[in-house]
Amino acid sequence: MNAPRHYLQFKDFSRAEYEYLFSRTRWIKDKFKRYEPHHPLFDRTLVMIFEKASTRTRLSFEAGMHQLGGSAIYLNTRDSQLGRGEPVEDAAQVISRMSDIVMIRTFEQTIIERFAEYSRVPVINGLTNEFHPCQILADIFTFIEHRGSIQGKTVAWIGDGNNMCNTWLQAAELLDFKVHVSTPAGYEINPEVAGVGQTDRFVRFADPMEACRGADLVTTDVWTSMGFEAENDERMRDFADWRVDAEMMQVAHPDAVFMHCLPAHRGEEVSADVIDGPQSVVWDEAENRLHVQKALMEFLLIGKVESDCA
Ligand code: CP
Ligand code: NVA
Repeated sequence: MNAPRHYLQFKDFSRAEYEYLFSRTRWIKDKFKRYEPHHPLFDRTLVMIFEKASTRTRLSFEAGMHQLGGSAIYLNTRDSQLGRGEPVEDAAQVISRMSDIVMIRTFEQTIIERFAEYSRVPVINGLTNEFHPCQILADIFTFIEHRGSIQGKTVAWIGDGNNMCNTWLQAAELLDFKVHVSTPAGYEINPEVAGVGQTDRFVRFADPMEACRGADLVTTDVWTSMGFEAENDERMRDFADWRVDAEMMQVAHPDAVFMHCLPAHRGEEVSADVIDGPQSVVWDEAENRLHVQKALMEFLLIGKVESDCA
């Protein structure tokens, strides 16, 4: 049996594969908007494993699989044997014998890597402590829809050096754009964890205003990610100057867009006038999770579909 292809981090795919995925997403989205059925994954089963909460990821994968002609099964740690100490390797062997593709949201990246090693079917990262590749796939597709190619552009990352930030850094290396990163002291990115080299693709800024200056895309995320709740009070104090507000958007490129993977906390990492303002594309960004992940599942299960791609 050939080893399946997985999507565990952004750099698992090449630039050419991303170009394909973005064009295929456009086609799949257009078809969906015209209410035209597209069932390439008829009779296939997706298993979704959640060790952390979710609204968008669960909804977009479950609806997406249904729209592609297949079905989806939801498992969580609370009421499956996964929460009672069954080894990840054993779970992977069993789950992958009963399904065609698996999506996992969990804690350490090593958990999903161990699962993938023992899985007979493709495994998709639906968020780990280190990465959130499906979200960045949607974010870049959204940028392209609104502003064209992201190549040569500048993304300002304001806030925590977290899973979203790490994934932006991988995307910048692959797709050739820049990330201005501004985090409070003590929350800096670690290039080794992010899996990127010390290239000129990212530049660190102590001052978030300076990171935003001239940026084509300004983005942030919650100050406290899932799994780090015990640090919440300390983080509220440490991140107080890292709120994306109108002043920061003012120094960005006049055409800049604002993104947030959601859920958002207005008045913490972003002011209400920014997230609800004219530069914000957060609802398109959220919707695009559905479309990019349909293209991703189709690609992992049946490969490139050139003939009917617009
Ligand atoms: N952005 C995102 O992954 O949202 P959920 O946590 O709701 O899935
Ligand atoms: N960084 C956040 C993203 C939530 C979608 C978290 O990991 O909780």
